[in-house]
Amino acid sequence: MTEFVERVSYLAEGPLALVIGCGDMGMGSARALGRRHPLLIADRDAERLDRAVDALVHEGYAARAIACDITSTGDVNNLAKVIGRGPGVRVLAHVAAVGNAPGGWREVMSVDLLGAHRIANAVAPHMVRGGVAVLISSTGSRQSQHDPEIEALLDDPFRPDFEEALIKAFGREPDFLEAYYMAKHGVNRLARKLAVDLGPNEVRALSVSPGLIDSTMGRTGGSLLPVYDGGKKRLGSRSEKAVLEVPLGRQGTIREIVSVIDFVTSDAASFLSGIDIAVDGGSTAFWQSRGVIGS
Ligand SMILES: NC(=O)c1ccc[n+]([C@@H]2O[C@H](COP(=O)([O-])OP(=O)(O)OC[C@H]3O[C@@H](n4cnc5c(N)ncnc54)[C@H](O)[C@@H]3O)[C@@H](O)[C@H]2O)c1
Repeated sequence: MTEFVERVSYLAEGPLALVIGCGDMGMGSARALGRRHPLLIADRDAERLDRAVDALVHEGYAARAIACDITSTGDVNNLAKVIGRGPGVRVLAHVAAVGNAPGGWREVMSVDLLGAHRIANAVAPHMVRGGVAVLISSTGSRQSQHDPEIEALLDDPFRPDFEEALIKAFGREPDFLEAYYMAKHGVNRLARKLAVDLGPNEVRALSVSPGLIDSTMGRTGGSLLPVYDGGKKRLGSRSEKAVLEVPLGRQGTIREIVSVIDFVTSDAASFLSGIDIAVDGGSTAFWQSRGVIGS
């Protein structure tokens, strides 16, 4: 066991920390949140989910699994039904997304944007007083166009002609990265809307935008990049150049994201709501200084 877990009965029976996605960041979040709340972990990859929850239980966490593909209305309704039978949700950490999708831009929209909306709609009615929803976004969200027509679509992704209307507003089909940026921009907007809608119930909502992170997802974008030691920078792939846009000169780590998730979901952050926090080693400031994005 690597971390102390207060495994007492009120903890195991209290409102849940619901973590959607058991990849690198989801598991880091689960280990942080599981020190304060019983865990319910959801993912579409049933084998990975079983391994994840076995590991958590072995480490002493009160953790349960529920298989759930966030692109499936049936799965998400089932998740809501299971939650509805319990004492509610104290923390929602919505982490699941696709970093590289065989289904291209449509899959990115379906998982990263519609999936986030589907989970928010299903879980919001079960959030208890003092609760908090943190939606994991990306600094890519800040590189998306601030076009009112596109933003109106990102706010209403279940309209039947969503994809066609997006192509029309964007002027063509977006590529994978453009869609990822738009979807994550939509996630930031969703977090703000939740903060306004759920605030009167004393529930907070916000988004956290990781920058360039050394992770399984990050590594699909290119070979290893400098991490803590700011080691030699070999230029070549897009992401190797990207590290030069990080003023701290290296990638971040999963732990550096998880520690922010830990803080923003704790009572120490009880007046923090409706914002997006970039955890990016200064990339956003770099892009602003170069006029790549507005301030
Ligand atoms: N890792 C990075 O470099 C990085 C950088 C910026 C932002 N982010 C964001 O951080 C979040 C998590 O990143 P990660 O490193 O943990 O990724 P990861 O790929 O390790 O984990 C993602 C998890 O989501 C699950 N998932 C994917 N589609 C799903 C679906 N339809 N239904 C249910 N589960 C699904 C996967 O099975 C996987 O377990 C994502 O929102 C990502 O966009 C990551």
